[in-house]
Amino acid sequence: MELKKVAILTNGGDAPGLNAVIRAITKTARTNGVECYGFIEGYKGLLENNFIRLDLNSNASGLLNKGGTIIGTSNSTNVFNYKVVNEDGSVEYKDLSDVCVENIKNDGFDCLFTLGGDGTQKSSRDFTLKGIRCIGVPKTIDNDVAHTDETFGFNTAVSVATEAIDRLHTTAESHHRVMVLEVMGRYAGWIALESAIAGGADVALIPEIPYDINSVVAKIEERRQRGKPFSIVVVSEGAKPKDGELVIKKTLDDGKGLDNVRLGGIGEKVANDIEALTGIVSRNTTLGYVQRGGCPTPQDRLLSTRYGTKAMELALNGIFNVLVNFKDGKMGYVSLEDVIGNNKEIGAASGNTKDSNIRRIPMDHDFIKVARDLGMSLGD
Ligand code: F6P
Repeated sequence: MELKKVAILTNGGDAPGLNAVIRAITKTARTNGVECYGFIEGYKGLLENNFIRLDLNSNASGLLNKGGTIIGTSNSTNVFNYKVVNEDGSVEYKDLSDVCVENIKNDGFDCLFTLGGDGTQKSSRDFTLKGIRCIGVPKTIDNDVAHTDETFGFNTAVSVATEAIDRLHTTAESHHRVMVLEVMGRYAGWIALESAIAGGADVALIPEIPYDINSVVAKIEERRQRGKPFSIVVVSEGAKPKDGELVIKKTLDDGKGLDNVRLGGIGEKVANDIEALTGIVSRNTTLGYVQRGGCPTPQDRLLSTRYGTKAMELALNGIFNVLVNFKDGKMGYVSLEDVIGNNKEIGAASGNTKDSNIRRIPMDHDFIKVARDLGMSLGD
């Protein structure tokens, strides 16, 4: 099959490097005489048949270091279970995926590149079952997509979190305080653990290890006795106490099959508990969206560019219905079916179970050992 016309969509929360992937796909397409288009605001654009030509002389120029996504994104559209609010206020869920399939066919797109995390790739897989040729590219600052060692956007998030830890260190030391930093990551602790190691934190609380506040306090007390009356505690937004619950900021109603849970607030709880138990003044900083805004790091630019060129190479070689992946230092691919596995619930808090195979930190990962070797408390 000769590839003539391809389309890209970016879906879910944005991540640094999205534009660099768009640029790499568009450039590789041009090198090979293929026309490249972008659907506006992810699957919403596909449903509304709203797309633009990506032109390296105008809209697709100067993208390498630009944060966000020039074609917009949506994290509240599941076209397979689309939330429709009727005039009388009643809500219905409709499968509108056939509208998207017709749009792709009528527009003559030979391949759809889906840049997104687990939710995006699940829809991508479902479109392949309807005969659409899709190639997924794993985007998320959370680094939690199965079968890939690193998603683009993650390195930038770790870099922003590390800088925040550096800044908290000086103020913690000056005031003899405990500084808590709550970072993103959903149900995986990659951002928390890697930034904690890179920033020299004393405690890292991650979703994979439910914590005991007494262990955290023991670490802080041990430091106080050693003449260090300040400590840095990094808390992943998905961390929870042993026998406790996730702290949820908001439960949304965006539609079925979407992650309707917004995590947030555990950092404040940890800071309050530490202050109550130690008497040391403790403050929380919630890092929030600066972790995924702005310019990608050089490492993310390189990774995004490799992901984009590899995605187009696969399409040119007729390899579809796969996710481009980065494994053991090499670019490759894995079937979308294997990535989704039996992900019944997107954003399931239970990752790595039969209902969700998001990639969480395995307990034999080197960074777990490194943290323990350093004497960092993981709250267990
Ligand atoms: O998945 C990326 C992420 O930034 C998570 O780390 C965070 O929990 C979530 O998205 C926030 O989602 P939203 O953009 O819908 O607030």
